Amino acid sequence: MSNNTTGAGDDADRGGESSTDWAEAIGDGGLVVVSNRQPYSHTYDGDDIAVEVHAGGLTAGLDPVMQAVGGTWIAWGDGDADREVVDENDCVAAPPEDPGYTLRRIWLSDEEVDDYYYGFSNQVLWPICHSALTRVNEWQSYWERYRTVNERFVEAVEDHAEAGDIVWFQDYHFALAPAIARERVDDETLLMQFWHIPWPAWDTFRGCPHGEAILEGLLGNDLLAFHVARYRENFLACVEAAVDDAVVDHETGTVSYDGRTTQVTEFPMGVQADEIAERAASEEAAAFWDEFRAEYDLADTVAVGVDRLDYSKGIPERLRALEQFWERNPEWRGELTYVENGSESRSQIRAYQDIQARIEEGVERVNDRFGTDDWTPVVSFRDYISKEALAGLYRNSDLALISPIRDGMNLVAQEYVAAQVDDDGVLVLSDQAGAGSLLDAAVMVKPQDTCAFTDAIEEALTMPEAERRARMRHLRRQVTENDLAAWTALNLKAAMALRDASGSGATLSMEGQP
Ligand code: F6P
Repeated sequence: MSNNTTGAGDDADRGGESSTDWAEAIGDGGLVVVSNRQPYSHTYDGDDIAVEVHAGGLTAGLDPVMQAVGGTWIAWGDGDADREVVDENDCVAAPPEDPGYTLRRIWLSDEEVDDYYYGFSNQVLWPICHSALTRVNEWQSYWERYRTVNERFVEAVEDHAEAGDIVWFQDYHFALAPAIARERVDDETLLMQFWHIPWPAWDTFRGCPHGEAILEGLLGNDLLAFHVARYRENFLACVEAAVDDAVVDHETGTVSYDGRTTQVTEFPMGVQADEIAERAASEEAAAFWDEFRAEYDLADTVAVGVDRLDYSKGIPERLRALEQFWERNPEWRGELTYVENGSESRSQIRAYQDIQARIEEGVERVNDRFGTDDWTPVVSFRDYISKEALAGLYRNSDLALISPIRDGMNLVAQEYVAAQVDDDGVLVLSDQAGAGSLLDAAVMVKPQDTCAFTDAIEEALTMPEAERRARMRHLRRQVTENDLAAWTALNLKAAMALRDASGSGATLSMEGQP
């Protein structure tokens, strides 16, 4: 049970499980997680080897689960010193300072990284799933290596998974692996997958190269989960349209295909809300904020955005809305600073280079147009900051502008809410993010409707205090009740229910689902 140290959400933690409970509940069967990113990488620091913790939502979220359950995590070993520290089976104990599970590293050649990661994963599946068909680039080698890399990960699964274990694939890098694994592992091994990005409507997915094979691959899972109901429905509609012989039952969310049944469901991912609130209230957070505010000479009112620099995040659209806001509201010039903390991502791909350049141009344009000697409208920085500093940035920002054009969930929106220990911030959120289905007291925007986005910024900045606080209290309750522990419990309970029912033909009870 999460400690309710901040007063948010009296009956917090819908799942009600602690890490120890998960370990006990999984019982004799172990857990094998498969993801592209590894939670820890080893890198050279001069002659020394340093450990880097990967900050992405997926790895940060699953690491505590693995620490508690103690299974095996299979992932791409992308650190330059990763090979130095593994044993003869390519395994290393993790976390390095306090081992709780085994990290099995998969080595990928440059060609494999180019074709499987930068290629099929991020230039075919990512844009398709974000409904960005014009950004799809496909080469034969992308598809071929996507398949062979999926096979290589499955070979590692064979090394570690035993009958009765749960194998949990993560995300769009492994759409083929479940069907391959189904042929190779014991029938009693449960295969499940969480798809962390959106699933598009059939009319978009039908543009996906090798789409039918992708669907068939995913139907190798016993359990397949998405963040929100509309992605699940989209997936079921795609299967119905494209996979001959698949029988879809929309009511139970099951697909019968090739003599097997896949349960398809939705479990909204959450954040470690209590930990974030504690960090937001920490001395380190306060010290960071004092220094940061002075260094950048921030205005009295601050808006924040924290993003991976991806075309799906709607950052140029946000800058346009801010530009229009300052144009329409000259009295806010000098009174509001927008702080953008962006992290570079997938920069080998042309579309990512382009979006980074567009964002820089947008920042320059707004600052050139409105900036003065003592006020910079947009403060954009790329530095990595500690979790405490980030929580301090969230806590002290009067509003967050989270405006993806399409986003599976968006955990930044939830982190911002979790850090509002004073209950006084306003969340401006795109209705195109999965988080929009959960966080119903946010000020909703359509990121590409610049006028309405500008109106929303005005509304957020002038909202009466009582309304602001009531909305934020409500949001905090939602984020705390649907936190990471609750998400993990939903996934693992569903897996165990299916495992226990296997052979009985039972499907997962949808009762109590969000
Ligand atoms: O949103 C999907 C996702 O895979 C996240 O899980 C992850 O944090 C993010 O994209 C980062 O992507 P990459 O591993 O390509 O840097």
